[in-house]
Amino acid sequence: MYPARVVSGMRPTGAMHLGHYHGALKNWVRIQDQTDSLFFVADWHALTTHYDETETIEKSAWDMLIDWFSAGVDPEKATVFIQSHVLEHAELTLLLGMTTPLSWLERVPTYRDQIEKIAHKDLTTFGFLGYPVMMAADVLVYRADQVPVGDDQVPHIEIMREMARRFNHLYGQEKGLNEKALVLLGKMGTEQSPFVAYRRAYQEKGDAEALSRARECLEKAVDLSRKDREHLVGWLQGTGRQILVEPRALLTEASRLPGLDGQKMSKSYGNAIALRESKDSVRKKIRTMQTDPARVRRTDVGDPDKCPVWQFHIVYSDEDTRAWAQKGCRSAGIGCIECKQPVAEAIIREQEMFHERAQKYLDNPAYVRDVITAGCDRARKLAQETLRDVRDVMGIGYKPKTDRTG
Ligand code: TRP
Ligand code: SF4
Repeated sequence: MYPARVVSGMRPTGAMHLGHYHGALKNWVRIQDQTDSLFFVADWHALTTHYDETETIEKSAWDMLIDWFSAGVDPEKATVFIQSHVLEHAELTLLLGMTTPLSWLERVPTYRDQIEKIAHKDLTTFGFLGYPVMMAADVLVYRADQVPVGDDQVPHIEIMREMARRFNHLYGQEKGLNEKALVLLGKMGTEQSPFVAYRRAYQEKGDAEALSRARECLEKAVDLSRKDREHLVGWLQGTGRQILVEPRALLTEASRLPGLDGQKMSKSYGNAIALRESKDSVRKKIRTMQTDPARVRRTDVGDPDKCPVWQFHIVYSDEDTRAWAQKGCRSAGIGCIECKQPVAEAIIREQEMFHERAQKYLDNPAYVRDVITAGCDRARKLAQETLRDVRDVMGIGYKPKTDRTG
C-alpha cells in the first residue's frame, strides 16, 4: 500500500548536484507517480542558520527549482511550492510551539552539535532551537503520512510524531467518550474484563504487549460494529481524535553517491558534480577524481572498496561493467583512466535528459512562476483545512461578532 500523502522539503542551496539526485530527487520522482506529493523550498529553514546571509536565498530557490524539474520532478504530478508563500506553516509553527516542551528541542541530537560546529555564528537563537517545530508544522499542516528524508532527519520525524501525539491527546479528547465506552463495554461479553485489564496495563505502564492483547479482545468481541471499535480504540489508547496525523519517515534504499574525493558530496567541499554540468567538465572531473591511494603505478593492483570510483560504478554501471572493473582493478588488468571511462559516459548520458528538461523551463521563466503560484495555492488550500480544525480545538476558531444588537 502506498502512502496517501508525502511531504518533503529542501533548503534553498542553489544548483543541485548528483548527490542530491541519487540521494533524494530520484526518489521524489518515483513517489510523485504513486501518491499525492508535496515538495517545497524550505526558505524559512535557511534563515534558521543563515539569517545573516540572505542575499542568495531568492536566486538559490529558483535555481534549485529548475534543477528539481530537470531531475524529473513534474509540477503536473506533484505540488511544488515555496514554504514562505504559505503562511499557514508559520501559524501552525506558532501554535505547536505552545505545546512543545523545551526539553524535547534541547534533546534533538544535532542541536548542540551544530551550535558547536558552526561556531563562527551565534546559533543560540529562538529560531534555531525551534526549527524542529517548524519542520513538524511543514508536515503536520498537510496531515501527511510519510516523509521521504535521509536518515539524518529521522530524529526530527520522531519529534514531530511526538508533537502530533501530544496535540491529539490535549485537544482530541472526544466529549462523552468515557460514558460511551462504558456502554460499549457491555457489548463485549466475555472479552470485557480482560480488555479493561489490558487497557489499564497499557495506560499505566505503556505495556505494548498489553495494547495488542486489548486490540485482540476488540477483534474477538463479535457484537461490536466498526464504529464501536473505533471509539473503544480511542478509549483504549487515550489518544482521542486524530486531528493531526503522526507521520513516518520514508527511508528508501537511496543510493549514496560520494563526492569525487570519497567524502560526502557537497558544493562547499568542492567535490561535487552539478546536475547540469557540461560534458567537458564531467570528463575532466572524473578523470582527475581520487582512486585507491595504494594504486600508485599502472602495474599496482587496486582495491575497489577503497576507491570512490567504484561507488560511482555501483550507481552508474551495469553488472558486466562492474565485473569488468572489479576484475581489472584487482589484477591490474585495466588502468584507472580506463576504469573511469564508462562512469563518465554514463553520467553524461544521464545528464542529457536533465539538460533537455531544464531547457523547457529556462526558456519560459513565466511558466515556472505560474507553476509555483499554482503549487502554493493548492498547498495553502490543504493547509487551511487543517488550520481550521486546529484553531477550533485550541479555542481560537471564533470570528468577530457581527451582530451587536443582541
Ligand atoms: N530539515 C530538512 C533538511 O535540512 C529540510 C526540511 C524542512 C524538511 N522541512 C521539512 C524535510 C519537512 C522534510 C519535511 O534537509
Ligand atoms: Fe578505482 Fe577503478 Fe582504479 Fe580500481 S581501477 S583504483 S576501481 S579507478
